[in-house]
This record gives sequence, structure tokens and C-alpha cells, in this order.
Amino acid sequence: MAETEEAHLNGAYYGPSVPASKSYHRPSRGGGPLGCCCSCIFSLVFKIIFAAVVFMGLAFLVFWLIVRPTKVKFHVTDATLTQFNFSTDSNLHYNLALNLTIRNPNKKIGVYYDRIEARALYEGQRFGTVTLTPFYQGHKTTNVLNPVFQGQQLIVGSNLLEEFNQQKSAGVYEIEMKLYLRIRFKLGRIKTGKFKPRIECDLKVPLNQNGNSVSTFQTEKCSVDYFNY
Ligand SMILES: *[C@@H]1O[C@H](CO)[C@@H](O)[C@H](O)[C@H]1NC(C)=O
Ligand SMILES: *[C@@H]1O[C@H](CO)[C@@H](O)[C@H](O)[C@H]1NC(C)=O
Repeated sequence: MAETEEAHLNGAYYGPSVPASKSYHRPSRGGGPLGCCCSCIFSLVFKIIFAAVVFMGLAFLVFWLIVRPTKVKFHVTDATLTQFNFSTDSNLHYNLALNLTIRNPNKKIGVYYDRIEARALYEGQRFGTVTLTPFYQGHKTTNVLNPVFQGQQLIVGSNLLEEFNQQKSAGVYEIEMKLYLRIRFKLGRIKTGKFKPRIECDLKVPLNQNGNSVSTFQTEKCSVDYFNY
């Protein structure tokens, strides 16, 4: 009874001012619920996206905390250069043996080295390439590889001989080794897709003549670039 009375009262109350109430009430009644609905959807979508981002962030953090991925480290620990000279026809005669250590410091990640191509460069020009045997490297393991560059290669450059003669008188040659790798990571039973990191090692190699050299080779840490290939 109270309801009908109220409704009636309301009707009676609003009754006289029909044109005014129409123009006043329509936007609020029509726009009110619609505006609320839109903002509800937006805030729901926003909440879902926000929750997804937070969830992925947490999942990544937990993964990172458990797995603790660390970069594999490359060092050239020894270099034996027994021949490095130019013949009159601009051919570089070379014989360079390197000891390359690869350290996988990860407790839970293994590495498949599917392809290992080592290139030796002098003054930015490649003079030798060797392909090393593929292998799998387990957790917390160090492997030693022995790339040997031997042969002759025509290399020319504007101030190549000038640089060469300077280094020849010093008895130490600045040689660069680059590794072009194709690797996959293994975590438990999961194997990742291929990565193609590039490793660069700048070496100062003393020439070893009849077992004598002006200095001993100093271990060089190589730079590792996972994404610039
Ligand atoms: C480098 O490798 C050669 C041949 O495997 C080995 O005789 C030499 O001791 C190594 N040098 C170092 C510093 O490990
Ligand atoms: C290069 O040097 C080696 C020894 O270091 C020597 O036996 C050879 O004759 C030289 N070659 C040239 C083309 O000078």
C-alpha cells in the first residue's frame, strides 16, 4: 500500500512539471546506467590485464629465482703463434693454436653447441676458419677447445703492412677470434629453440720462434653477444 501511495505521490509530484522533468531526467536515466556499464567493462578489462601482467611477472620472477640463469663464459687461456708473416705476394702465412675454455656456470641449464665456427681475423680481415666438433655441456662444467688456424691467406689493407711491421718489431700481434655459434639450452627435459650468439676475443699474441717469445700470453675474456647476429 505504501509503495502505490509513494508511486502515486511521485507521479503526483512530478506530474505537473512534465516538460522540465523529461529534459532533466532523460539524460541521467539514459546515460547513467550506460556510463556505468562502460566503465564496468573497462575496469574489468583493465583488472584482467593488470592481473595477467602481475601473474606473468611473478611467474618470471619465480622461474628466475629457481633457475638463476647466468651467461656462459668464454676465455682464451693460451695461444701459440709459430708463424705469422707475409710473403711478397701479400699472403699471410700463419700457424696459431688457441686454448679456449667455455664455462657453463648454471646449476640447472645445459647447453648444446650444435655448431661452433671459429674465425681468426687480422686487422679486421678474416684469414682462417675452423669448425669445431659439436658437443653438449652439462651443468657447472668447463670444456677446453683447441682451435688451430694454419695456412695462408691473401689479405690486403691500406695501412696493413705498417701495422704489421709495428707489431712485428714489438713481437706481439693483435689477432681477433670470433665464434659463430648455434646453441640450444636444456632445462630439465625442456630444450629451447636455437640461439646464435657471437663471441669476440681480442688477443695479443706473442710470436713464438724456436720456443722463444718476447712475452707470455695473457688470458683474455671474450665478449658474449646473444642478440646481435
Ligand atoms: C693449451 O693446450 C695445449 C694442447 O692441448 C696444452 O698442451 C697446454 O698446456 C694448454 N695450455 C694451457 C694454459 O692450458
Ligand atoms: C715466416 O716465418 C717462418 C718462421 O717464423 C719462416 O720459416 C718462413 O720462411 C717465413 N715465411 C716467409 C714467407 O717469410
